[in-house]
Amino acid sequence: MPAKSMDELVSLCKRRGFIFQSADIYGGLKGMYDFGPLGVELKNNLKDAWWRSMVYERDDVEGLDSSIIGHKLMFTYSGHTETFNDPLVECKDCHARMRADHMKDTSVCEQCGSTNVTEPRVFNLMFKTNIGPIESEDSVGYLRPETAQHIFANFKNVVDSTARKVPFGIAQMGKAFRNEIIARNFIFRVREFEQMELEFFVKPGEDEKWHEYWLEERLKWWEEQGLPRDKINVLDVPDDDLAHYAKRTYDLEYKYPHGHDEIEGIANRTDYDLGNHTKAQNEFDLTAEVHENKDSNSKLAVLDDESKKWYVPYVIEPSAGVERGVLAVMNEAYTEEDLGDGKSRIVLKFKPHLAPIKVAVIPLKKNHDGLGAKAREIKNTLQALGLGRILFENTGNIGKAYRRHDEVGTPICVTVDFDTIESDNAVTIRDRDTMEQKRIKIDELEDFVKDFYQAAQSRDSKAAA
Ligand code: GAP
Repeated sequence: MPAKSMDELVSLCKRRGFIFQSADIYGGLKGMYDFGPLGVELKNNLKDAWWRSMVYERDDVEGLDSSIIGHKLMFTYSGHTETFNDPLVECKDCHARMRADHMKDTSVCEQCGSTNVTEPRVFNLMFKTNIGPIESEDSVGYLRPETAQHIFANFKNVVDSTARKVPFGIAQMGKAFRNEIIARNFIFRVREFEQMELEFFVKPGEDEKWHEYWLEERLKWWEEQGLPRDKINVLDVPDDDLAHYAKRTYDLEYKYPHGHDEIEGIANRTDYDLGNHTKAQNEFDLTAEVHENKDSNSKLAVLDDESKKWYVPYVIEPSAGVERGVLAVMNEAYTEEDLGDGKSRIVLKFKPHLAPIKVAVIPLKKNHDGLGAKAREIKNTLQALGLGRILFENTGNIGKAYRRHDEVGTPICVTVDFDTIESDNAVTIRDRDTMEQKRIKIDELEDFVKDFYQAAQSRDSKAAA
C-alpha cells in the first residue's frame, strides 16, 4: 500500500533523515534537496543496482564519468543553446512565474488572477558559468542539463580505447542541472538532480528492434526495484510532444502521489547527436537534420564490416532520474499496517538490496560493556560481508528500535541480550516484514545474513524475468 499523500513521504523523509530541504537554516533553496544519512544510502543503492544491471551484468556496455561543466560548443551543436527553452510568463502584481505551455490562459495569472502579466518569453534552462578568472563570452561553459552530451563527445575515445563494435552502449550516472521555471512535487522536479543514462549505439535500420528491447529491459529493472508493472504507464509520446532529437520516445510514467508522471524516457535519437558532433558530415548518409559543424576534430562514425562503408550509428537512450526513482521506490515501499488493539506501524518494505541499513545490531541495554562489546564484534563481522551499511544501535530500547527500523526499512534486526554473553552465544533475529523473531547461534549469523540477501536478489530477478 503506497503512501496516501506526498506530505506523508515528505514528513517521513525529514523525520528519519532521508531528505532535507537544501539550506534549510536560511529558509531553503527552492528546487534543491540534500540527501541525509539514510537518503544517501538509498540513493547509492539504487544507482549501484542500475550500474550492476547496465554495465556489470552485460557484455556490451562501457562506463563513463565525465566532467559536469560542459564546453559551450558541445551545447551549441547538441541544440541546447537554441532549443532547450521553456516559455515563461511573469505576473507583475504577485511576481509569480508560470510556464506558458502549462497555462490555460496566458493573459491571466494563475496565482492571483491579475491580468497584469508579461507576454510569454523564452527562457533557457541551462545554468551558465564562466571557466577561469575572466568573465567573457569566450569563457562561457554550462552545467550539463543531461549527462548524454558528454557520452556523445567521448564516443570516439571509448571506441578507440576499447575496440567496441556496434551494437554497444556507454553508461553514465551523475548530476544534471536545469533552471526549471517551477520546481514542484518534492524531489520530483528539481533544479539539481542525477540521471542514470545509457546511450546504446546501433546500426540504422536495427534501431526500432533495439528500442523495443530496451523498453522491456527497463520495465523489468523497475520491477526488480519494487515498482509493479501495473503502476507504470508506457506512453508512446505523440509526435508533436517529441524532443527535437527524437524519432520516437516511450515515457515510463509511474503512479506518484501527485498522479502518473515520467520516471524514465526511452528515446530513439537516431543519428542526430553523433551526426551533429561529427566532422565531415557530408561523408555520411545522415538521416537527421543537423547543423553544419565546423568545429569538431573527430569523425564519429564506424566501419560497416559487410558494406565496408563508414556510417554514423543511431542511438537508443534509456534515461532515468535518480530522485524520481528514489521517490517512487519510497512511495511503493510505504506501508501502514494495523497491528490490532488500536496499534499500527509504518514500515518501508524496500527490496532488501535497496534498504539503507542492511542489519541493525542492538544491545539490549544501552552503554553496557559486555553487551556493547559483543554487539560491536557482530557488527564488524557483518560489515565485512560488503552488503552495505550495518548499524550498531546503542539506544537500549528494543521496542522503539524495532519501530524505528521498520520506518526506515531495515530488513533484519539482531538483538544481543544477557543470554548471548552469559549462556547460549546466540542472538535474536527479527524480520521486518513478518515481525517474526527467532534465536540463532552467532556462528550461523554470517551465513544467515548472506543467504537472506542472496535469496532476495534471485527472487526479484526471477519475478521480473
Ligand atoms: N538525455 C535525455 C534526457 O535528459 P529527459 O526526459 O529530459 O531526457 C530524463 O530527462 C530523465 O531525467 C527524466 O525521465 C526524469 O526522470 C529526469 N529528470 C528530468 N528533469 C528533471 C528534473 N527537473 N528533476 C528531476 N528529474 C528530472
